[in-house]
Formats: sequence, C-alpha cells, structure tokens
Amino acid sequence: MKIIIDTTENVAKRAAQLYVDLLSRNPQAVLGGATGSTPIPLYKELIKLNKEGVISFKDAKSFNLDEYVGLEGTHDQSYRYFMNDNLFNHIDIKMENTHVPSGIDISEPEKYDAEIQAAGGIDMQLLGIGVDGHIGFNEPGTPWDSLTHVVELEQNTREVNARFFNSIDEVPTHAVTMGIKTVMNARSIILIATGSSKAEIVKKFIEGPVTTEVPASILQLHPFVTVFLDHEAAALLEKQA
Ligand code: PGA
Repeated sequence: MKIIIDTTENVAKRAAQLYVDLLSRNPQAVLGGATGSTPIPLYKELIKLNKEGVISFKDAKSFNLDEYVGLEGTHDQSYRYFMNDNLFNHIDIKMENTHVPSGIDISEPEKYDAEIQAAGGIDMQLLGIGVDGHIGFNEPGTPWDSLTHVVELEQNTREVNARFFNSIDEVPTHAVTMGIKTVMNARSIILIATGSSKAEIVKKFIEGPVTTEVPASILQLHPFVTVFLDHEAAALLEKQA
C-alpha cells in the first residue's frame, strides 16, 4: 500500500491527479465510485478540472459501490441521487455509462459483477472507510470471496448515517453492496480517510492483521492501493510517511 499523508485540501487535489493520469492514459477507463462525506472534496475537484478542460469523462464508465435497499434513485438519500447531485450532473460523463446497484430490484445482485466484467473490469475503485472498517457496506465478518450482495446494516452504521435522515427509523435496514472480492478485482484502488474519527480504524487496517473483523485490512494484499490520509486520520500511525 502506498500511503500519502497531507492536508485535507491537498488529499482531494492529489487524489484527483490520479484521475487525470488515468483518464489521459485511458479515456475509456472504468471508475469505481463511492458515496459518503469523504469523497465530496475530491468530486468538487474533479468537477473543477472537468470545467477547466483538464479532464474528460465523456468516454468513461462508472460503477458505484452500493445502494440502500428500498430507496428509488429519485429519493434524496439514495446513493444514485447523491452521485448525480455531487458529480454526474456536473461533468461530461454520459448518464447511461453510470451505474449504481439497484436498491429496488435486488433479486440477482451478483449480476452487477457480470456487468462490471462486461465493461472490462474496474480500473480504479474509490473507497471511504467506516469507523468499523467497512468498505462499501461490507461490515465486519463479510467473507473475502463475497461478490455483490444484500446486507443487513449494523446498528452503528445506521446511527452514523442517521444524520442524513429525519430520524433513525427512516434509515434503511438493508443495502446492496459490491462484495470484498468485487472490490479486490479492481485493477487499482484509492482509499481516502479524513478526520480524527477515522484515526483508530486507519491504524488498524494499515498496521493491524488482515482479518475479516476489519474488512479494509484485506487491502494490504492488493498490489495497487493508494491510501490518502489527512493529518488527523493519520495521527495514530506508527510510521508517518
Ligand atoms: P464517510 O463514510 O465518508 O461519510 O465517513 C465512509 C464510509 O462509511 O464508507
């Protein structure tokens, strides 16, 4: 794993540079998207670079990590809505080339993996990390060989996400998420963690053992992972890059 530690602002800028590099090498790249608070500064940067003509998404494709079960894409807390609102509506990607798992038709979730494969596989997957080590909605205990599947959300994850809803009762109980294997199949991975609330889990997934109890720890075994941390998230690491 390559670890990059910088200010919160520079983390977004430096991560954006990886998109510039990839898309200038391969304009048809397949991008793996993530939701949450963490990627928003990066998405703002990508929008800016797109408007300045530095980067184009017009031939790119994207596959998002996850979606809440039961929310239509028009629901303002669905991850489809989030992606349209925070990125896709503001860049030159073709909407038909953007994919978010359906939270409504969940009959055959592993079909999503077949779609990813048919598109040539993901060139660069973006990840955030939950305070419990989850990536996508792969909570502790998720098997390493999991493909896209439906999960019951941990109470803690629902509580953390309740801030976006009127009350915790409105937070869906289930989600559909790429599996750990789906993520590990990506040719390269970027994980971004910012803020002091992530410091403990950052130390665990980078310096601790590879264990299903810390889903992100599997990334230690992937050959092309870049982890971007701000100083707060990196505070507990033994080795400061
Ligand atoms: P956050 O979520 O970016 O809102 O902290 C990260 C995650 O749960 O994967």
